[in-house]
Amino acid sequence: EKGGYDHFMIKEIHEQDRVINDTLRGKVFEDNVKIDEITMSDEELQNIHKIHIVACGTSWHAGLVGKYILEQELRIPVEVEVASEFRYKNPIISNKDLVILISQSGETADTLAGLREAKSKGAKTLGILNVVGSTISREADGTIYTNAGPEIGVASTKAFVSQLIALYILMLFLGEKKNILSKERRKYIISELKLLSKKVKTILNNEKNIEKIAKLFENVNSTMFIGRNINAPIALEGALKLKEISYIHAEGYPSGELKHGPIALIHENFPTVAIATKSHTYEKVKNNVEEIKARSGTIITIASEGDEKIQDISDAVLYVPDTEELFSPVINVIPLQILSYYVAKSRGLDVDKPRNLAKSVTVE
Ligand code: M6R
Repeated sequence: EKGGYDHFMIKEIHEQDRVINDTLRGKVFEDNVKIDEITMSDEELQNIHKIHIVACGTSWHAGLVGKYILEQELRIPVEVEVASEFRYKNPIISNKDLVILISQSGETADTLAGLREAKSKGAKTLGILNVVGSTISREADGTIYTNAGPEIGVASTKAFVSQLIALYILMLFLGEKKNILSKERRKYIISELKLLSKKVKTILNNEKNIEKIAKLFENVNSTMFIGRNINAPIALEGALKLKEISYIHAEGYPSGELKHGPIALIHENFPTVAIATKSHTYEKVKNNVEEIKARSGTIITIASEGDEKIQDISDAVLYVPDTEELFSPVINVIPLQILSYYVAKSRGLDVDKPRNLAKSVTVE
């Protein structure tokens, strides 16, 4: 059932090129999108003035990326909140708000409570969910199914990537309904989305290199992941993946925060993973990498193919295919998942069932 792999986690990581297409299938066409499970009227959709995204764990990280996707393309304000905070803060929501619940299982107790809170305040609700017929799908006004297939590993991998794809689809959908995105822009975004699967496959084929880099974590007990803008949440996700399956302490930071505290952690046996792919803040991240190197920190960079120069300031470089910044989280998270997997595996840990964790958190 593990299809020849040692663990479900690595099997599921390797499914991701296919999952991207499965999430797109039936929803995304040449220049438009169709989502059958969204039953809100066009008028209701046009009325949306503000979006809230509510989720836990890795799904929350998808929501943080979603904020960038939706705000950058649609210029609609988006707030993202951890469900356990949202549900108890008496959130300010009106009937012009859309509350999006992201959950692989569709059963997470806090996320479900967030949905009920939003409904009681008159907001429209939408689930981005993987499990068909789950509790959240039954109670929300609409659902986008992510079609990732069953995820067995406790560490979420393919579900995360499918949630990101669903968020791009939602952005296209709202952009069309609210007349914000031109047909040309939609067409362009769709054509770029369709290229992602192949790019992900390239990284999966590069697994052996990533496994080698995992050796840099052999005697390490603390690490940091950094990134900016749309990749700041990917730094958080990289840190979560590593800590939950390898039990190595890992922090995730927007890299501009380095000087505000975390740079004090840097020493020879403290690796930092920096997401330094092409972006409008590339130079800024590069400066951060230099600052770490200057303090003798071990630095592993995720860089765009062709960026030879970054090797001069890195202990190891993981190259990923070039992609527009908007889509880069889908690409950049893959090497981080593989890295965590091999670090945990080399420590002989139970990767699929890490201690103290459950796949579905149905109690607070
Ligand atoms: O089923 P959900 O997406 O609602 O689950 C949310 C979190 O419990 C989940 O993402 C958790 O953080 C994973 N173990 C992360 O790998």
